[in-house]
Amino acid sequence: MSDLSAIAESNPLRQALPRAKVPEPCSIVLFGATGDLTHRKLVPALYHLDQAGHLPGECAIVGFARRDWSDQQFRDELKKSLANPKDGGFEESWTEFAPKIFYNASNFDDPSGYRKLKEQLDKIDGTHGTRGNRLFYLAVSPEYFSVIVEQLGQAGLIYKDDEGPWSRVVIEKPFGHDLASALELNRDVSRVLREDQVYRIDHYLGKETVQNILALRFGNSMFEPLWDRRYVESVQITAAEELGMAGGRGGYYDTSGALRDMIQNHLLQLLCLVAMEPPVDLGADAVRNERAKVLQALPIWTAEEVENHVVRGQYVAGSIQGKEVPGYRDEKGVAAESSTDTYVALRVTLNNWRWAGVPFFLRTGKRLPKRATEIAIQFKKPPTNLFEVDNEANAGANLLVLRIQPNEGASLAFQAKIPGSRRRLQEVRMDFRYGTAFASPPPEAYERLLLDVLLGDPSLYTRTDAVEAAWKFVDPILKAWDAPDAPKILDYAAGTWGPEAADKLTEGTETEWRRL
Ligand code: BG6
Repeated sequence: MSDLSAIAESNPLRQALPRAKVPEPCSIVLFGATGDLTHRKLVPALYHLDQAGHLPGECAIVGFARRDWSDQQFRDELKKSLANPKDGGFEESWTEFAPKIFYNASNFDDPSGYRKLKEQLDKIDGTHGTRGNRLFYLAVSPEYFSVIVEQLGQAGLIYKDDEGPWSRVVIEKPFGHDLASALELNRDVSRVLREDQVYRIDHYLGKETVQNILALRFGNSMFEPLWDRRYVESVQITAAEELGMAGGRGGYYDTSGALRDMIQNHLLQLLCLVAMEPPVDLGADAVRNERAKVLQALPIWTAEEVENHVVRGQYVAGSIQGKEVPGYRDEKGVAAESSTDTYVALRVTLNNWRWAGVPFFLRTGKRLPKRATEIAIQFKKPPTNLFEVDNEANAGANLLVLRIQPNEGASLAFQAKIPGSRRRLQEVRMDFRYGTAFASPPPEAYERLLLDVLLGDPSLYTRTDAVEAAWKFVDPILKAWDAPDAPKILDYAAGTWGPEAADKLTEGTETEWRRL
């Protein structure tokens, strides 16, 4: 057994991400190598994959960024972000990992930097046996996406031939700022890359609990027959965050807002997984076809419909768990008069056979009382009520809650008879928790997604038609908000569940916003 496989065998991550296949030898080029994402997510994910024996032995990581660092400086910085005092074997495994790491200092629009990169990669192919296979990961600000792809093409770093070595490009979010810019970016990218070489990332799709939505729906026979307009009253998807503008994100966020930052991608992808039809198999095409169809069934709203279906808010100073926090406009990097949305709630129905008339409630916000992402499927009440009930409003409404994070798991609420001579019911729950059901913790989303792109499996990445369909839904909302006569954005105090006006979205339905 090699040293690497010995480490892998003893590492619990091996169980967390069981895989028959190991990717082919390759170089992984990280654009934006000095940035937060590289240090917080990408390199830790690659390191853990390597430790668990999921990376090929012949593998190299090349950082590409503007800062004038040497290979050694880059390694030292990465070591700082990886070092785990609790991991007794860290020094030893770092000593094995570090020689695979290189750095290339260049501006993103400088052709000479890409020529240097090509020479460097060719050399690494010789020294590290990476066989010309290349993954380029664009963890940079979106204005550089087109520039980098074009430069890669001009430097001859993208193979057009599907025989021989491969080249793939991962593009971080946000993919476009609106429909027009997403279409333009897709055009720019497709001038250099075939669609099967483009991996648009939405890290929610890599979360274990998100993948479990399909397992729950299509790996069981008892849920699916109830999963449509006849039995489902409503679906509520929440992604609540306690954090405000942490880590100096105010500048970026102020140009984005909750609709673009969370709804256009993460929440709509959750909606796809809840609402899609069963795919013929779990291959990338079949799954992505079904996800895209859900987005295509979203309505295109008029300004008046936007006003009736969407509520946007921005947090003002308040307190979260006893701690005073500033309002959004007082955050670093945020304009003093900003009207950027930090909260969005909306009610939408899908124009398709399965879901006609069923309201889907989506909401997300910063500085809400707690961090919680979940999907709540509320089933219809029984047609008649034979029992005494304490809470008439909810009597008999079964609720299936999929907890995406934290406390990952699922619970099913149903009615049970309270012991005694009366016919009284009480809601009780069956609960599944990842922590207790499975021995190992779920792997990080980025580990799964990086492994998939190295294996050439795009199923958990977003295809061009899906990105465009999502923007087609979001664009009219953005336009309505930009109109001179648009209603003003509503305030909500940090630490509350958003503007009270969001309650108008549930009026006339059997559903209320859940207080988690
Ligand atoms: C990112 C958003 O895509 O997702 C952030 O840009 C948000 O604003 C984050 O905080 C949430 O991700 P997670 O995995 O913490 O739910």
